[in-house]
Amino acid sequence: MRQIPMVPVPVDAGGINPARMAQALAKEGVAGVYTVPSYQNPTGVSQLARRREKVLALANQYGATVFEDDIYADLRLGGRSIRPIKSLPGGERVVYAGSFSKSLAPGLRVGFMVASGKLARDLLHFKESHDICTGRLTQAVVAAFIERGGYRRHLMRVRREYKRRRDAMLEALHTHLDVPHRVTHPKGGMHLWVMFESPLDMAGLEEMAEKRGVSFAPGTLFFTDGRRASSLRLNFSANPVETIHEGIVRLAQCIKKEIMR
Ligand SMILES: Cc1ncc(COP(=O)(O)O)c(C=O)c1O
Repeated sequence: MRQIPMVPVPVDAGGINPARMAQALAKEGVAGVYTVPSYQNPTGVSQLARRREKVLALANQYGATVFEDDIYADLRLGGRSIRPIKSLPGGERVVYAGSFSKSLAPGLRVGFMVASGKLARDLLHFKESHDICTGRLTQAVVAAFIERGGYRRHLMRVRREYKRRRDAMLEALHTHLDVPHRVTHPKGGMHLWVMFESPLDMAGLEEMAEKRGVSFAPGTLFFTDGRRASSLRLNFSANPVETIHEGIVRLAQCIKKEIMR
């Protein structure tokens, strides 16, 4: 497949930086905007309502298609839900994507897209040439689960538990990570993002942490140009509260050692 050239746009606590997005769109040949507006992977940050409006207005102004990857939307752990970009006035050309991978089970491989017109037809053709046919059985299972109220009950349960796990991780970081850092406070999803003030050898830290049974995703993985070497993504959904606490204690010890090396 042809490699698509990427133009990275910075994200802050309110989502995509609109001024930088405008600069990127003004560059010749930018055809689309990919965004994860709810509890973004890797930062956990949510795009504010007015930023969503701005993203759409800019994309429409420059004739770019927004691809809204809202895979974490159902994992809201507090606060009010924010309207998807696709649902805003002028959002007709937005391609909206969701999935049950994060909220239910990744192995199901069931997700969905909302698109219209020629773009929807092109996407269908692309999908067909990619895997011929999507599994109907798993789709039927998910549909029945939703219709019978199982998905709603499941979400209530996981949201309650993920909230406990997120709070436990934030609390453990606050108590045990005594080197200068900043951490995001996600209102949903399953990740949080830690940024350090001092440069950190991520490969060295990863090796040390792995030996102590702790894994994380190094920040460099999430930049098209490998920047922000001194950041990491932590997952708070996968482990019970006690394991999270112990994991952060061990990780904090490794980080301190790595910084003092
Ligand atoms: C933002 C985002 N989109 C898509 C995916 C992949 O989803 P799926 O398992 O439904 O292919 C991930 C998985 O990590 C993700 O974080």
